[in-house]
This record gives sequence, structure tokens and C-alpha cells, in this order.
Amino acid sequence: MVSQTSILLLLLICAPTLYSGTDLQPRCNEKDRSSLLIFKRGVVNHSKKLPSWSSEQDCCSWKGVHCHNTTGRVTRLDLNQQYLVGEINLSLFQIQFLSYLDLSLNGFTSLIAPSDTHASFSNLQFLDLSFNDDLHVDNLHWLSQLSSLKYLNLSQINLQNQTNWLQSTALHPSLLELRLASSRLNDMNISPSMKYVNFSSLLTLDLSGNNFKSELPSWLFNLSSISNIDLSFNFIQGPLPKSLLSLRNLKSLRLNDNELNGSIPEWIGQHEHLQYLGLSENLFDGSIPSSIGNLSSLIHLEISSNLLSGNLPTSLGQLLNLKYLSIGGESLLGVLYENHFSNLSNLEELVLSAAFSFDLASDWMPPFQLKGLCIKNANLGPKFPEWIYTQHSLVYLEVPNSNISSINSDMFWRLVANITQLSLSRNTISADLTNITLNSELMFMDNNNFTGELPRISANVIYLDLSHNSLYGPISPFFCHKFGRENNLDYLDISSNLLTGGVPDCWEYWKGLSFLFMENNMLLGEVPSSMATFIDLIALDLHNNSLSGNFSLDLSNITNLEFINIRQNNFSGTVPTKMPHSMEVMLLGSNQFEGNIPPQICNISSLIQLDLFHNNLSGPIPPCISDIPNMGGAQRTDHYPFEFNLYNKGRELEYEDYGLLRTLDLSYNNLSGEIPPQVFSLIQLQSLNLSRNHFTGEISREIGSMKNLESLDLSSNKLYGEIPDSISSLSFLSFLNLSYNDFTGPIPVGTQLQSFNASNFAGNPRLCGAPLPINCTVESGNVGESKQDDGRKDSAFETESLYLGMGFGFAVGFWGLSGSLLLYRTWRHMYIQFLNHVADQLHVFVVVMINKFSGTQASSN
Ligand SMILES: *[C@@H]1O[C@H](CO)[C@@H](O)[C@H](O)[C@H]1NC(C)=O
Ligand SMILES: *[C@@H]1O[C@H](CO)[C@@H](O)[C@H](O)[C@H]1NC(C)=O
Ligand SMILES: *[C@@H]1O[C@H](CO)[C@@H](O)[C@H](O)[C@H]1NC(C)=O
Ligand SMILES: *[C@@H]1O[C@H](CO)[C@@H](O)[C@H](O)[C@H]1NC(C)=O
Ligand SMILES: *[C@@H]1O[C@H](CO)[C@@H](O)[C@H](O)[C@H]1NC(C)=O
Ligand SMILES: *[C@@H]1O[C@H](CO)[C@@H](O)[C@H](O)[C@H]1NC(C)=O
Ligand SMILES: *[C@@H]1O[C@H](CO)[C@@H](O)[C@H](O)[C@H]1NC(C)=O
Ligand SMILES: *[C@@H]1O[C@H](CO)[C@@H](O)[C@H](O)[C@H]1NC(C)=O
Ligand SMILES: *[C@@H]1O[C@H](CO)[C@@H](O)[C@H](O)[C@H]1NC(C)=O
Ligand SMILES: *[C@@H]1O[C@H](CO)[C@@H](O)[C@H](O)[C@H]1NC(C)=O
Ligand SMILES: *[C@@H]1O[C@H](CO)[C@@H](O)[C@H](O)[C@H]1NC(C)=O
Repeated sequence: MVSQTSILLLLLICAPTLYSGTDLQPRCNEKDRSSLLIFKRGVVNHSKKLPSWSSEQDCCSWKGVHCHNTTGRVTRLDLNQQYLVGEINLSLFQIQFLSYLDLSLNGFTSLIAPSDTHASFSNLQFLDLSFNDDLHVDNLHWLSQLSSLKYLNLSQINLQNQTNWLQSTALHPSLLELRLASSRLNDMNISPSMKYVNFSSLLTLDLSGNNFKSELPSWLFNLSSISNIDLSFNFIQGPLPKSLLSLRNLKSLRLNDNELNGSIPEWIGQHEHLQYLGLSENLFDGSIPSSIGNLSSLIHLEISSNLLSGNLPTSLGQLLNLKYLSIGGESLLGVLYENHFSNLSNLEELVLSAAFSFDLASDWMPPFQLKGLCIKNANLGPKFPEWIYTQHSLVYLEVPNSNISSINSDMFWRLVANITQLSLSRNTISADLTNITLNSELMFMDNNNFTGELPRISANVIYLDLSHNSLYGPISPFFCHKFGRENNLDYLDISSNLLTGGVPDCWEYWKGLSFLFMENNMLLGEVPSSMATFIDLIALDLHNNSLSGNFSLDLSNITNLEFINIRQNNFSGTVPTKMPHSMEVMLLGSNQFEGNIPPQICNISSLIQLDLFHNNLSGPIPPCISDIPNMGGAQRTDHYPFEFNLYNKGRELEYEDYGLLRTLDLSYNNLSGEIPPQVFSLIQLQSLNLSRNHFTGEISREIGSMKNLESLDLSSNKLYGEIPDSISSLSFLSFLNLSYNDFTGPIPVGTQLQSFNASNFAGNPRLCGAPLPINCTVESGNVGESKQDDGRKDSAFETESLYLGMGFGFAVGFWGLSGSLLLYRTWRHMYIQFLNHVADQLHVFVVVMINKFSGTQASSN
């Protein structure tokens, strides 16, 4: 096969010279050529995309066209990954001897069925239209005309509205491989009008990544010759039926990421030919059957993330051919002995995620040399296990949250010197990093007890997380020493340590950084203007240090910057405004900024969160605030700013959360004047906090249009007048504080206003009605004064703690969804697509969390 392909390739390359020199070579058939030209007309910009397809030339020398070497008839058309856009006219099938058609990995958007609906195109054996992501196909009837089809691949094209895909494919006894992965199919049950499926030759069936929600269909168990089944990433339910045993030739069974339940049956051990078994991410319970040790052909076994309990059977240690083993789950528990691994001499990757302990002799020599080892949430420590030092071929080593508190520094750093990915997160490892040079591309070393000064890094390091340790000393040696000049760092997190000193002025060597997190340290002094040279910066966090002076960085040329947090420092001067249009989240609270809120803020067009909480700002709110499109605009565009999510769980969640909320917090300042009505037209806002200022005037009726508002705090101002009725139409509102103003009249009767605690209306002596214990009679006067102190002391930070608490709960929930995503950059694109799918669910989740949290808060008051 391989050699044939290369010969064809050679022919293709040589073809023009061969043919131009002699008349003996067969020329392309005229009919074939005109069918090809019809196809060509459907390709947008075809003269550019298919320049060799000119009418003068022999069509056998056109790009992708292969002719028979003696008859000159076209037999293959192979145009995969040619960036072709447009329509596919299946009149191509009229090319009489065409046996191979591959148009995969292009951008075709429509398909024209063959015009002759009665013809049979009996020579076509291979058809691949996969990965034309925007190709919608409503009708597959024409498939029945391909009577000799052996390979059919329609993966990753849109068959969403296709209800009879099974009917159209099922009567192809010649079919060897059928791939319909990620094609948005909904139903895999056989329709009543169809008596049976005849896939009597089928070897490979790939239906992964669709929306199948039923149990495994019974027709599957009649596929007597089937060897590979992939139904992963669906919503398939129910237990594994015993009829699966009738598939005696099964080599690969991929059922991971479904909703299968029941136990993993003992009979699974009878599948003697099985090489690949994927059952991860399902709802299987019970224990792992020891018969699994009878699967003597097994190479790949994945059964993590289920509801399995108990210990592992020692029979696993018999799987001599096993290369990949992944087992995990929250209720798995027990002790692993040398027996569990005794014959695993071919094992290359071992992934265990469960509360296992290990009872292995200290001089145990494992039978394997691993390329990858991941043991998490286990009891590996307290010492880093000796046997891991015998593994010299590791590419990744991950032991997060595994109770390790000490390493043998000499051996450990030598072991990991050439490892690509290292994770030691969430242990209690104590080691001095002062003289260590880190060398792995991805290093997760957060949440330990590493001490000493910041380590050195080599040019290999791309991602480094050292947060939540006990590193100390000034940061400038790390940034300014010459060893760092060749760095390729993209992500650096040294937050939550004991680091000191000023922010250095050596940023010219760190231009590649996209993410820089230095919060929760003891950094001092001013921020040098050279920090504005981070052209690739996406996120910068410096909060909770002792930084001071004007924050005068001109960041307006950093056109990817989306997030800046400099809260809780001593910055002074005016509010920084030299920000790029890309800026989404600006957290400037708890500093000493003074003067007015500059109207330039309104030009930051991507802004979705602005926090100026607790500064010394005065004057009015600029009315232009409603010009910020993501706060005021009618259209809600969703933002997923933090692609580095892929790397790191904790951080991702914190900011994913920020990314979804639209908030404006101007509380705790000296702002005054009336609240401009424009503020109440920020209809995208979810949280508005103007409390603890000197605002006067009435609340505009406009407030009723802030349909997304979930939290509103106007407390401790000098607002007056009646609370507008329109406020009761804010149906998401779950936190409201209007206390300590001078509102008058009745509290509007609305669905949720009466459910808030009375303290949220306290300190308005002329306000009446539920939930206040004051009836709205004309003479109700000043009753209620005596109750007004209740809520005062804790109202200030309520909103903030509300969101902090929500962030955490949200984090846990969200990570559950995306927990198994891989870490490399190439996955970003897919990941973002994935997020788009779940966006609505996320939002719902946020709302639920807020409601829940404010519930607790109300009851604790
Ligand atoms: C076709 O060519 C025009 C002009 O060069 C270009 O603007 C357009 O984007 C091209 N279309 C596609 C689909 O490549
Ligand atoms: C034509 O191809 C066949 C195999 O496809 C090969 O056996 C034969 O030698 C080839 N003939 C010429 C003239 O290249
Ligand atoms: C597709 O090809 C057929 C010729 O077989 C032709 O009649 C038809 O017009 C083509 N369709 C389009 C949309 O170009
Ligand atoms: C589509 O499936 C066929 C047959 O299984 C396979 O040879 C081909 O590589 C697949 N195409 C892509 C783009 O993966
Ligand atoms: C599928 O059908 C629905 C409703 O009939 C329609 O709204 C949708 O656009 C169709 N989708 C495709 C890809 O044809
Ligand atoms: C399935 O197709 C094969 C080959 O055409 C044929 O021999 C067999 O009888 C068919 N089976 C059924 C149940 O129709
Ligand atoms: C690491 O790689 C370097 C160069 O590839 C090699 O010289 C060195 O021996 C390796 N070190 C270890 C501990 O494998
Ligand atoms: C680091 O290296 C320097 C110079 O070799 C040495 O003086 C110092 O004691 C070392 N520090 C630690 C913590 O190992
Ligand atoms: C961290 O290490 C320091 C010094 O090595 C030690 O005093 C401290 O107790 C350790 N903390 C924890 C939580 O292990
Ligand atoms: C921003 O870019 C412009 C145009 O390249 C340049 O003139 C200006 O000096 C830059 N500003 C800063 C602060 O780097
Ligand atoms: C409020 O009115 C209700 C009846 O409408 C009455 O039972 C209650 O005593 C009144 N409360 C006060 C404080 O006047």
C-alpha cells in the first residue's frame, strides 16, 4: 500500500515532463475531462486554487487527478486539504472508472446530488468528504447508487437534519469502513420501515462525537465481522449488553464519554482479541472485574472517571502487552502491590487517579520503562518514591495532590532535567530552588512549600506556575540576570509567595510573555514604564502588593491585553486610561486614585468589567459610560478571554468567571451629583455597585430596562424620591441594597422585592411596605427608625463576597465539564468551540450560583 502510493506520487510529479515529450502516452478521456470541468466550476476562485486545471492541458496531469497508466481513464481524484471553497457537484460520479474520491479537509459548503438518480456508479470504492465543517448535507439518497463502496467518510460535516443516514448506508454489504464522527447525528435506531442492516463486511464503524442518546442499538450486535467500534463522546445510556460477546472479532471498543451504567461485566474478559478498551467518563459502578486480566491482547485500557469502587484486581499485572493504562475514580481505594504490575513489561504510560496507597519495596525495580507517568490524588509520599528514579525515558511526569513532602534534590532534578511536562501541584514539597535551573516546557509547581529565591529557567520553559509557595527575596535577579535573556516564557505565575523588592526594569527580555501573575507578594515601589513593552501580553495581575506612584503605563499598543488587576496597592494620581480597545476586565479598586472618572474610559470598547471601588474619586459619573458597547449595547457578545485555561485549572476558573460577568463597581468613593440616566441604560450589566458615595437625585425609571441585572447596590448615598415600579421587572435580581438613602413612599410590590431582607431597605425613614415592618398608611411617619442599625456593619462587602464565593462554586462546577482537555496549544481552537457550545449552560449556572449564595446570606443575616 505504502509503496504503491509513493509510486503514484512519483508519477504525478514526473507526469508533465513525461507527457509533453511523447505522443504514445494515453491522454485523458474527453468525458472524464468535462465532468472534472463541471466540478471545477463549483470551486470559488478556481483559476487561483486549481491553476493546473486549465483546458489546454491533458487532464491526467491536473493536480490531484490520477489516470490509469494504459487506458488513460481517470481513476482517482485526491484534493484533500487544498483550501477549496464552494460546491461539490457529484456529477463527478459520472467519471466511469473513478474508484477513489477524496475531498476531505476543505471548506466546501454545499453538495449537489448526482443529476441521474437511476444510474449506478459501481466503480467508486473510496469516498471521503470529511472535515468540510460548513458542509450541510440534507439528503444521502445518492449513497445507494454507489454499489461497491468500501470506504465512506462523512465525519465532521453537518448531517444534522439527516434522519435516514442509517437507511442510506446500511444496505452496503461491501462497506469495510464507515466513519460519521462529529456529524451531528441524533438517532442511531433502525427505522421501522427497515428490517435489518446489511453491513456484512464492515470492519470499522466510527460514530463518535454525535448526539446519540439511546442505549446501544441491537443491530450493532449483528455486525459479525466488525473489528473496530468507536461510539465515544455521545450520550449513550444503559448497561453493556451481553450480546456484545457475539462480536468475536472485536479488537477495539471505544465507549468513553457516554452515560453507560451498571457494572463492568465479568464476561468482558472473554473478548480475547480485544486490544483497545475505552470505558472512561461513564457511570459504571461496582468493582473492576478480575477477568480483565484475561484480555491477553490488550494494549490500551482506559477506565477512569466512573463511579467504580474498591481496589484494583492484581490480575491486571498479567497484561503483558499493555502499553497504556488509565484508571481512576473517586471511590476507588486500596493498596497497590508489586503484583499489580508484575508482567507489565511493555507499559509506556501509567495514569492513576484515585486514593490508592502503594506498598512497594524501597528497592523495587519496575518491569517497565515509562514514557509518561501520572499519579494524582493518591498517597505516594511522604517521600518522592524511589522507584520513579528508575524511569529514564519519561516525557511527562505528573504527581499532583499526592501527599509528597520531600524530594531527594540531587536525584530529582537530574530525573526531571529532560522531561517535557512536570506537575507537582498541590503537594507539600519543601525544597530550596535558589540554585536550580528548570528545563521543562510546562511546569506546574504551584501549591507546595518551595522556598529560596526564584529558580533559573532555560530557554525550553514556556509555562511556569510557582504560585502559592514560600519563595522569597527580590524578583529582579530572576528578570534581569543574563540567564533569563534567552527565555521563551509565555506564562509566568509567581503569585502568592513572599517575594519582595521593586518591579525591575528588564522587560525587554520578556517580550514573549502573554500572562504575568505577580499578585499577593510584597512588591514595592513604582511600575517602570518599560513594562509597556510586553507586546503579547494578555493578562497582568499585580494586585495585593505595595506598589505605589502613578500608574502611567501606556498600554494602548498592547492590542491583545484583556485583563489587568492592580487592586489593593497604593497607586495614586489619576485613573489610568491608556488602554487598548481589547481590554475587557479592569480592576483598579482599593488604591488611591483621585480626581474625576475620566471620560476616556468610555472609549475602551471591549470593557465588560470596571472596578474603581475604594479610591478617592470625586465628581460625577460621565454620561458617556453608556457608549461602552459591551455594557450598554443591545447585542451581547460572549467573550472567552483566557485561552490559557488549557494549561491550568485554578486560574482558568477564576477568570472564566470574570469573563462572563458584566460589572461596574464605583463604590466607596466621593462621587457626587445625580446618577446620569445613561447608567440605567447599561442593559448588559449584571452587577452595579454605586454604594458609599454622595449621589443625589432620584432613580430613573430607565432602570427597568436593565434586564440582566443580578446585583444592585445603591446603599449609603443621598438618593431620594420613590423607588420606581419598573424595578420589579428585573427578574434576575437576586441582590438589592437600597439602605441608608432617603427614599420615600411604598416599596413596589413585585415578585422578588418583598423577598429581600428588610435590612436592605433600612435607613430610609420615609419608606414603607414589605419587607419593612412599616405599613403604608398616610401617618406611618417615622416608624422604623429604631430598627435601622441591624444591617449596617456588614453591608459594605456583601457584593464583593458574593462574587468571590460564586467564583469558587462556579470553578468547581465548570471544571467538571472540561476536566479532561489536553494542555497543548493546538487544542485551543477546539476548546474555544467547545466553550461556545456550553456558553448558555454556563450562564445559567452563574445565575443559579448567585441565587443560591444570596439565599445563604439572607438567612445568615
Ligand atoms: C476569491 O478571490 C478574491 C479576490 O482575490 C478574494 O477577495 C476572495 O476572498 C477569494 N475567495 C475565496 C473563497 O478564497
Ligand atoms: C501500469 O500499472 C500496473 C499496476 O497498476 C503495473 O503492473 C504496470 O506495469 C503499469 N504499466 C506501465 C506501462 O507502467
Ligand atoms: C452539476 O452537474 C450537472 C451535470 O452533470 C449539471 O447539469 C448541473 O447544472 C450542475 N449543477 C450545478 C449547480 O452547477
Ligand atoms: C476518512 O476515513 C477513511 C476510511 O476510514 C480514512 O482512510 C481517511 O483517512 C479518513 N479521512 C480523514 C480526513 O481522516
Ligand atoms: C435543520 O432544520 C431546521 C428546522 O427544520 C432548520 O432550522 C435548520 O436550518 C436546518 N439545518 C440545516 C443544517 O439544514
Ligand atoms: C447481505 O449481503 C450479502 C452480500 O450481498 C448477501 O450475501 C447476504 O445475503 C445479505 N444478508 C442479508 C441478511 O440480506
Ligand atoms: C538530557 O538531554 C541532554 C541533551 O539532549 C543529554 O546530554 C543529557 O544526558 C540528558 N540528561 C538526562 C538526565 O537524560
Ligand atoms: C547557591 O549557590 C551559591 C554559589 O554556588 C552558594 O553560595 C549558595 O549557598 C547556594 N545556595 C543554596 C540554597 O544552595
Ligand atoms: C515550609 O517550609 C518551611 C521551611 O522549610 C517550614 O518551616 C514550614 O513549616 C513548611 N510549611 C509547611 C506547610 O510544610
Ligand atoms: C504605539 O504605536 C505607535 C505606532 O506604531 C507609535 O507611534 C507610538 O509611539 C506607540 N506608543 C507607545 C507607547 O509605544
Ligand atoms: C399593618 O397592617 C396589618 C393589617 O393590614 C396589621 O395586622 C398590622 O398590625 C399593621 N402593622 C403595623 C405596624 O401597623
